[in-house]
Amino acid sequence: MIDVVLYIHILAATAWIGGALLLFLLGVFIKDIEAQQQTYEHLGPFYGYFESFWLTILLITGGTMFYHFNLIDVLTLDVNESRLGYMMSHKLFYVGTITFLTIIHMSIALKTHKKERSKLQKIISRGSSLMIFFLNLGILWFAMQLRYILS
Ligand code: HEM
Repeated sequence: MIDVVLYIHILAATAWIGGALLLFLLGVFIKDIEAQQQTYEHLGPFYGYFESFWLTILLITGGTMFYHFNLIDVLTLDVNESRLGYMMSHKLFYVGTITFLTIIHMSIALKTHKKERSKLQKIISRGSSLMIFFLNLGILWFAMQLRYILS
C-alpha cells in the first residue's frame, strides 16, 4: 500500500519539478517581451493552480510516508548518528522554504495579474522563483538518498 503512496509522491514530484523547469526556461528563452508577457498572462493562472495542486499532493503523500516509516525520531539525530536523519531534516527544511517561497510568489502573481509590477515586486517574484528552482534540485538529491537508505 505504501508503494502506491510513493508512486503518487514521485508522480507529483515529476509534475511539480517538470512544471517549474518548463516555466522557468520559457522565461529565459522567449526573448520577445510581448510574446513572453502573453505567455505568462495566459498560462500563469493555470500554472499556479497546477503547481499548488501537486505541491499539496507532495506534502500529503510525503507526510504519510514520514508517518509510516516513523521518521520523527531520526530528525533529532546528527549526521554521524544517522544519515537518514540528516537527509530527512535537510529535505524537510528545503521543502518548508519552498512552500513559503511559493506562497509569496503566488500572492504577488495573483495580486498583479495583468497589472504593472513595482520594482520590488519584480525582484521578489523573480528571486523567489529562482530560489524555488535551485532548492528543487537539492530536494531531489536528498529524496534520492532517502530512497537508498529506506529500500
Ligand atoms: C517539494 C516537495 C517534495 C519533492 C519534490 C519530493 C520528491 C521526492 C522524490 C522524487 C522521492 C523519490 C526518491 C527516489 O525514489 O529515489 C521522494 C521520496 C520520499 N519523500 Fe519526498 N518530496 C517532497 C516532499 C516530501 C515531504 C514534505 C516529505 C515528508 C514529510 C517527504 C518524504 C519522503 C520520503 C519518506 C521518501 C522516501 C520513500 C521511500 O523511499 O520509500 N517528501 N520524495
